[in-house]
Amino acid sequence: MRKVPLSDSLRIIGRGSLNWLANRPIVVSFEVTDACSCWCKHCDHGGPRDVSRNLRPAEYARYMEALRPCVVQISGGEPLLRDDVPEIVRTVKGGPRPPYTILVSNWSHMTEERYLELRAAGVDQFSVSLDFPDDRHDDFRVYPGLYSHLSDLMPRLAKLGHDDIVLNSCITSENVGEIENIADKAREWGVNLCYSAYSARRTGCRDYFLNSAEQLATLNGMLDKVEARRDQTNWIVNAPSTLEATRRYFANGGTPGCKAGLRFLVVTADGALQPCSMQFQRYALEDRTRMIREFKENNKCDECYVSIRSYLDKSFPQLLSENVREFLSVK
Ligand SMILES: C[S@@+](CC[C@H](N)C(=O)[O-])C[C@H]1O[C@@H](n2cnc3c(N)ncnc32)[C@H](O)[C@@H]1O
Ligand code: SF4
Ligand code: SF4
Repeated sequence: MRKVPLSDSLRIIGRGSLNWLANRPIVVSFEVTDACSCWCKHCDHGGPRDVSRNLRPAEYARYMEALRPCVVQISGGEPLLRDDVPEIVRTVKGGPRPPYTILVSNWSHMTEERYLELRAAGVDQFSVSLDFPDDRHDDFRVYPGLYSHLSDLMPRLAKLGHDDIVLNSCITSENVGEIENIADKAREWGVNLCYSAYSARRTGCRDYFLNSAEQLATLNGMLDKVEARRDQTNWIVNAPSTLEATRRYFANGGTPGCKAGLRFLVVTADGALQPCSMQFQRYALEDRTRMIREFKENNKCDECYVSIRSYLDKSFPQLLSENVREFLSVK
């Protein structure tokens, strides 16, 4: 995985320390649309939604100024359904404190031209969802042809050599046996890899959680094999501690100690703050400290271990040392 240049790394670390002390979020996820091109079995999004109240690109400057995040995720719904995503990225990156910026997408609407335009606009990392290393991906996402589109585009863009594409695979009961095959696919395509964990909180459906001893044994066996394949290139983006915690999350049926609303938060498509993408209490930007008081300080939810959480449950020294190793150029 490509590392951030030294001067930018030092700036991000400095800002992270200030935000940590000032109770400002380290990561902000901008869900730039609720509409989606897919109808994934594990998700509460899917299909068209009202987009008339979506924030316009210039409006993101106000959120950047107030929140000053170190890392921004541009997500959704499917962000690439918006033609103006490069403008949003330019706004997010254009202020005095440019963050490390990740575009989280299913890539149904990605092309080589859009990839290059988004890179030029300032995307540092392209996180691309993949649930299966073959056509079963289309069935799970209810988007015919998606896997074949990815298998054409992904190796072609990887060959450009920017080393900024990460396959993002959400582990469910359906694909737990494919964990290693997904790693093989990432290697074959020449891209990096990150695992995340299914949460029943989005849809209420527990069928995709790992519910049996057999599924947990499969998870552990597969993750052992993945661990054995780490090397100096950091192509497995999850820290070892994160994969360990993912095993515990499934084994225990949850993970307490969530810092949603404090260390990370979501900005909805129409501009409200939410603690996370699965808690729908809405606050105005000016009411962020009230969100911390009302939500974070009373939050007992332990129902997910998605990536954004898995990074930020850690102590600041651990967070810093792991990110320095994986993403930043200070060592
Ligand atoms: C909500 S999607 C938004 C961005 C884009 N549409 C995509 O699929 O990448 C972001 C990530 O959430 C994951 N996701 C969806 N439903 C989930 C669930 N119930 N538990 C955990 N992750 C989930 C998806 O697999 C995807 O990687
Ligand atoms: S996971 Fe992403 S692509 Fe699938 S329905 Fe949800 S938002 Fe859409
Ligand atoms: S554990 Fe935290 S991030 Fe996950 S759904 Fe609950 S409140 Fe949201």
